[in-house]
This record gives sequence, structure tokens and C-alpha cells, in this order.
Amino acid sequence: MPIRLHINIDHVATLRNARGTAYPDPVLAAQLCEQAGADGITAHLREDRRHIVDADMARLRDLVQTCLNMEMAATDEMLEIALRLRPDVVTLVPEKRQERTTEGGLDVVGQRASLAKAVQLCQGAGIKVSLFIAPIEADVRVSHELGVEQIELHTGEYCHTDTPFEFARLAVAARLARELGLDVAAGHGLTRHNVVAIAAIPELREVNIGHAVIADAIFVGLPEAVRGFRAAIDRGVRMRRG
Ligand code: PXP
Repeated sequence: MPIRLHINIDHVATLRNARGTAYPDPVLAAQLCEQAGADGITAHLREDRRHIVDADMARLRDLVQTCLNMEMAATDEMLEIALRLRPDVVTLVPEKRQERTTEGGLDVVGQRASLAKAVQLCQGAGIKVSLFIAPIEADVRVSHELGVEQIELHTGEYCHTDTPFEFARLAVAARLARELGLDVAAGHGLTRHNVVAIAAIPELREVNIGHAVIADAIFVGLPEAVRGFRAAIDRGVRMRRG
């Protein structure tokens, strides 16, 4: 089973917004990623609009041909936008104004009631829902109980520490999620190097990668950066069989 490669284009907008210019255009970046073989485009509309802004999201909805994954906090404002735009997938993430990037997984146990409402609203509009969670058994089980189609496992700790322990946590959580019938994605901090082992986890079906793709693109161009990640993922998938 191949792994879907979803590219997060937030940091194209970060660069644009740093100068207040109209370029570089994250939507053009999304189109180049698709032409280079990406299976989907991910964009995070944050409450503070620090990178992607509402107009980007609307243009992405119009122009993305593959799969549009809207990352967002489960707030009333974001739900209203998602229900209007109808991305293919909504990934619910925790969000803190002060954080540099999404720091942890959702508190699915503590926020169960508000998440249940958000899940219901999105699914009622025909949108697939993914929950961004830490690789913790209870969180996988509660996600399943919430009735979502997918979980995205937070790979930040694994990428940061590069220990067998963190890798094992991801592998165990992926297996449990799959046993429960959930689609399994992973993301955060993945690079062309550390994604290989992640892609070798047999239950994994999707990765969401942003920062390292845009970083590679500075040196090799966006299409080549996407192809580099695809090749790394394919190496990981081949390790499953070997
Ligand atoms: N998945 C989720 C849910 C995220 O919040 C992010 C960061 O926006 C990513 C994946 C991508 O992480 P990175 O930019 O480190 O590749």
C-alpha cells in the first residue's frame, strides 16, 4: 500500500508575509507540488493568520486538484470557515498563540466534548476528519470512539530525540489505530532522512511534511524537493518488505 505524500505549504506564506508582498504565492507552490507528484496539499489556517490567510484557503479550495487538507483548531470561527469551504479533509490540531509551531497532540481526553461537536459538524458536511495526536494508547482509543476516519501521529518527539523508544511508541500506536480501523497519518519534523524509518511502519498511509520540504526547495527547487521526499518514502516502504 503506497503512502500518500501531503505537502504543507504554510512556510511559503510565511516568507511572503515577512515582506508583505504578494509573492511567493502558496497556491502556486501547491500546484507545483501536485505536478511533482504530491498526493495532497496541507495548509494550516491559524487564528492569528501568521502564514496562510483566508484568501489563500479559498484559492486552494478552488485550485487544488488532489486532496486539500485544512489544518485548524476546533474553534467556532474555523468550523464556520471549514463548513463553507469544504476541504477534503480537516485535521484538528491544538493551537497556542505563543508557539512557534504546533507543539503537541490534541488533548482528546480533556477536550472530548468540544472535539465531538467539531467532528460531527465536519462529517455532517461530508468532510473527512483527522485528529493530530501524540502516540499514546488512550488517545488512539478516544479518537476511535470519537468516530473519526483518521489520526495523524505527532512525530515531533521522534524527530527531536531520534531514539528507539520514540520510534517504538509511533509503531505501537500505528498498529493499534489500524486494528481499530483508523487511517494512519504521521507528521511534524520529518526530513528526507528521518522519514525513511517512519515510512517503513507497515500501518502508515500518509505523511504531512512542510518545513523540511520548503527548506530543501531553497537549494534544489520545489519540484525536486518533493521528488526527493517521494524517493525517501519509497525507500522506507521497500524496507517493509525486505
Ligand atoms: N502535521 C501537523 C498536524 C502540523 O501541525 C504540522 C506543522 O504545521 C505538520 C504536520 C508539518 O510539520 P513540519 O512543518 O515540521 O513538516
